[in-house]
Amino acid sequence: MTIHIGAEPGSIAETVLLPGDPYRAKWAAETFLTDVERVNEVRGMLGFTGTWKGHPVSIQGTGMGMPSLSIYVNELIRDYDAKTLIRIGSCGGMQDHVAIRDVILAMTASTVTSPSSSIFRELSFAPCADWDLLRAAAAASAEKGTIAHVGGIYSSDVFYDERSDLNEQMVRHGILGVEMEAAELYTLAARYKRRALAVLTVSDHLITGEALPSDQRETSFGDMVEIALTAAFS
Ligand code: HPA
Repeated sequence: MTIHIGAEPGSIAETVLLPGDPYRAKWAAETFLTDVERVNEVRGMLGFTGTWKGHPVSIQGTGMGMPSLSIYVNELIRDYDAKTLIRIGSCGGMQDHVAIRDVILAMTASTVTSPSSSIFRELSFAPCADWDLLRAAAAASAEKGTIAHVGGIYSSDVFYDERSDLNEQMVRHGILGVEMEAAELYTLAARYKRRALAVLTVSDHLITGEALPSDQRETSFGDMVEIALTAAFS
């Protein structure tokens, strides 16, 4: 047990999927895993362990934003020895060729600040995905017929952003989408030599103003879970 995760030692798998929303963790575990056991409910941040095609898998909510994700990922790595960590979440599209419902596989995650930025100070560290996971997720997306874009994303600290000029610079530099967690996940994975990837569905679009209706979010979310699981065990 840790401060924020009540799971017994050994009850979290080496492979952990990380949705921001704890109810998405519950839905994904009940939909895709067998022999599911709830292993965490501290603060309502639900976590589950089960099996997928015979492989042990945990699915743990992280909350929104890098400070929250950082707590869960630090404890999953340092206390439960998680080795493969895949964020499954939503993002805002930032390029014309990226459409609502498309998947983005985040090769890199740029950020202004993160819980790790005080370590790097004047250095601009480049958080990046694990190559084997990225390649496997691209193959799994193609196999499923899901449109997946591979490239850079922007991990912002704010959803209601008053600095539109920063978003404009991201768009100008080819960033595919904006979310709020991946840069810290990638930085922690680098620090502790673990494998990490963010698989994201485009749920809204900063240029077109479109947004995915709530009744369609579940299907897109399911695609991401399957892509993440397939990539983890490829
Ligand atoms: N901004 C930040 N995070 C997000 C967005 C967004 O537009 N959409 C989904 N997550």
